[in-house]
Amino acid sequence: MQTQSWLRAGLFAALATASFGAAPAQAQGSLVLYCSVQEEWCRPMAQAFEKETGIKVSMTRKSSGETYAQIKAESSNPRGDIWWGGTGDPHLQAAEEGLSEAYESPRNADLHDWAVKQWKQSKGRTVGVYAGALGFGFNTKQVASRKIDEPKCWADLIKANLKDEVQVADPNSSGTSYTMLATLVQLMGEDKAFDYLKALHKNINQYTKSGAAPAKATSLGETTVGITFMHDMVTMVVDGGPVKVVAPCEGTGYEIGSMSMIKGARNPDSAKKFYDWALTPAAQSLAAQAKSYQVPSNKSVVPPPQAPKLEEVKLIDYDFAKYGSSAERTRLLSKWDREVKVLPK
Ligand code: G6P
Repeated sequence: MQTQSWLRAGLFAALATASFGAAPAQAQGSLVLYCSVQEEWCRPMAQAFEKETGIKVSMTRKSSGETYAQIKAESSNPRGDIWWGGTGDPHLQAAEEGLSEAYESPRNADLHDWAVKQWKQSKGRTVGVYAGALGFGFNTKQVASRKIDEPKCWADLIKANLKDEVQVADPNSSGTSYTMLATLVQLMGEDKAFDYLKALHKNINQYTKSGAAPAKATSLGETTVGITFMHDMVTMVVDGGPVKVVAPCEGTGYEIGSMSMIKGARNPDSAKKFYDWALTPAAQSLAAQAKSYQVPSNKSVVPPPQAPKLEEVKLIDYDFAKYGSSAERTRLLSKWDREVKVLPK
């Protein structure tokens, strides 16, 4: 009897220890984060969230178009929990295609109208986390040594003096480059935009996978001009690169960098926690520390002084509903593949 109760007590204690040992891990949980901003910003975000919540983050960095394609491919067996960052159009396409989950964060009240508009437009399936204007940058040393005028306009990028000297990403993988495609269509009309893209093709030295890659290449002088979001070029200037940032004279488009919760996520509670946290001033302030100079969506976060002032840029009234729709994005990308990418140089 005595032995039995001793045994029972011992077993109970062992079980309690076992479950006690397991409990915190379960309570803390895990999160699979698909991140579409720069690696330099993805990493501190993942680390800060882990530190704040104890939730273990497994992060993968991929471009916006690539991440959209991955979420779509995995839709029958979702592996990701949350998709944070990257241009808004593919987030909107994912929303329309039912690949993301509707969620109303209590933090919505703290956001700029443009961020909430994205949320409303997608019936609550994606929300704005930052904004940034498209532009380009040039290497000042290259421009000087080539004795060419400083490019100021989209029209300058198709001039013969920049043959093989312009770099931009592939719009299929990169949200930045899709923003350029949709911007030009809105700015010039579709026929003229495709004529322009065909002329630009002659000057392109490489279509990169990631949208911001041409910024680094411009800074290193591997290309004279890189087409990226203006803030990606600002990062190069801050790092001391011989780069000048340009807001194209004809006007330009912009992105609403977004966040979506993945439908069928395995860790929906962790995803919600990340979602709410990513909209806080503390989380959004990590951008500037990571030298990412977008305009944050939380109204109380003062944009970093280096951030391009969007009110000073001639911005088009980018039609996110249209260019973020599944039909239009799919159509424009396959047209670009058929009519531009395959052209000889
Ligand atoms: C960079 C920019 C972001 C943008 C992202 C899109 O990280 O800083 O503002 O959202 O590129 O990436 P992608 O590779 O899809 O063009």
